[in-house]
Amino acid sequence: MEIVELKKGIYWVGAIDWNVRDFHGYSTPSGTTYNAYLILDEKNALIDTVRAPFYLEMLGRISEIIDPSKIDIVVSNHVEMDHSSSIPQIIERVGNPVVVTSERGKKGLEKHYKRAMNFRVVKTGETLSIGRRTLAFVEAPMLHWPDSMFTYVKEDRVLLPNDAFGQHIASCHRFEDEVGDEVMKHAAKYFANILWPLAPLIVKKVDEIVKMGIPIDMIGPSHGLIWRKDPNRIIQAYVEWSRGKAGKKILLIYDTMWGSTEALAKAILKGLIEEGAEAKLLHLRSNHRSDMIEEMLEAKGVLLGSPTLNNGMFPTMGDFLTYMRGLRPKGKVFGLFGSYGWGGGAIKEMRKSLEPEKFDIWEKELSVEYIPDPEEIQKAIEFGKEFVKKVL
Ligand code: FEO
Repeated sequence: MEIVELKKGIYWVGAIDWNVRDFHGYSTPSGTTYNAYLILDEKNALIDTVRAPFYLEMLGRISEIIDPSKIDIVVSNHVEMDHSSSIPQIIERVGNPVVVTSERGKKGLEKHYKRAMNFRVVKTGETLSIGRRTLAFVEAPMLHWPDSMFTYVKEDRVLLPNDAFGQHIASCHRFEDEVGDEVMKHAAKYFANILWPLAPLIVKKVDEIVKMGIPIDMIGPSHGLIWRKDPNRIIQAYVEWSRGKAGKKILLIYDTMWGSTEALAKAILKGLIEEGAEAKLLHLRSNHRSDMIEEMLEAKGVLLGSPTLNNGMFPTMGDFLTYMRGLRPKGKVFGLFGSYGWGGGAIKEMRKSLEPEKFDIWEKELSVEYIPDPEEIQKAIEFGKEFVKKVL
């Protein structure tokens, strides 16, 4: 196995999951990594672990650098099992390492693994000397679980923030400057699908870190590539995404039964484009929900179209709105359209689904009975144009 050294004495000892394609509902066509870091000093520290099935891969990497029984400290920045589920096996292998974690982290590890651990609970600003180096801890509650914490290696200026700044990408490379711009697309999808609901907290946390005067040479997240060349690039991207930076992009997300809602969608698309929007048509059964959420990140408006089925919205739209609601993408204007045979109900149900989150929903709607005629197609084009005027 290749040995990857971030800085002298700091190693990546994680695992590469080339095959995962669904990460709790998030599509991962490029797989992912579970990053763990080993710091050699007077006391050797392992920062996070890997998902349990990858324990031996991590142990193999550690063993090429030191005898694993020489690990003194295991830092658990985050309890979610993709990072903590090898901790029990590491404890068995090592003996009785000190497990450094936040108060909520301790509670979470106890509830997950139901075994004694030699805990040391830390709070923001606390430090731990491991010899030549000092580890400093910053609690980051709800980024993205209550237990989340960042570890900062002071002397080396390396920030290990666990899930923050990650990307789901499996690669033979470990650093972002080795893969080019592709990394930003993965980082954007990761932000949109995991961290978007926490955007205000992210801006606050970034401000807090800047105010603490923490110089950062490198950011080693718990998934994907390590930000080595310009860590500020991802910090700035997070600030922009959190603040809802959007261009002239408008999305049309829809499904169709017999083609009527699709005919409306295409007519609306024509109106959007004619009025100057950068419009994109996304069929709910041709696009994964997590890719459409990524598309929404820099969109100004989103038009949602559904036929009526059994007096309600189409099931694919129900799935998408349930997922989207939880991510609370604020700063977008939503518009609703659809078709029906008798009675209707899709638009009403879509509106009802969005209202509890106080999304900005355009009061105007477009609803067509059976198959749109030329006049209704023209109305759909005008509907698109009006939406552009409202949104841009
Ligand atoms: Fe990568 Fe929240 O776990």
